[in-house]
Amino acid sequence: MQTLVIVSHPYPEQSVAIKSLQQIAEQTADVTVRHLETLYQNDLARFDIAAEQKAHEAADRIVYLFPIHWFNLTPMLKAYLNQVWSYGWSFGPNGTALKDKEMQVVVTAGANALTYSEQGLIRSSMDEVLTPMKASAYYVGMKYNQPLAFYGAVGASPETLATFQAAFAERL
Ligand SMILES: Cc1cc2nc3c(=O)[nH]c(=O)nc-3n(C[C@H](O)[C@H](O)[C@H](O)COP(=O)(O)O)c2cc1C
Repeated sequence: MQTLVIVSHPYPEQSVAIKSLQQIAEQTADVTVRHLETLYQNDLARFDIAAEQKAHEAADRIVYLFPIHWFNLTPMLKAYLNQVWSYGWSFGPNGTALKDKEMQVVVTAGANALTYSEQGLIRSSMDEVLTPMKASAYYVGMKYNQPLAFYGAVGASPETLATFQAAFAERL
């Protein structure tokens, strides 16, 4: 099984949690890592669409790894989906490029798990926050794996980061 990991973080130089997870992906066999802001900075219009589509086609499973910022995807990941998941490629006529591939969403969040619950501050679960990814996956015929969410990711201790890394390694 070939896995593509698309990493997005708007401030890669400030990242601790996502960076530590990216390192795990880079050490794993049969995993290709592409970091959007490293490849394209924060330019929403510079994607090498052919290269990105080719990377998706070569994979059986695509992992999207990003931090939750304002309960949403990163701007680059949203722009990426807009442009790379194009009409006629992932949907529409002959648009079957992603069909039957797995989508695995992996996120880090500053808030704790209780915040992401019906009783919590935001009255929403992480699954609900990630609805756009789930809906997009099903729209193009992908299998949607249960997202992996790492809470309390701001200022996480080395021990906590190690538990994040171990859980991610297991999923990979
Ligand atoms: C602009 C901004 C918005 C954020 N919004 C949220 C949020 O909506 N929910 C949340 O749980 N954490 C939020 N956080 C915390 C980030 O999720 C957290 O810093 C990140 O997951 C840690 O990973 P990193 O070390 O790779 O940056 C936000 C952080 C920033 C900088």
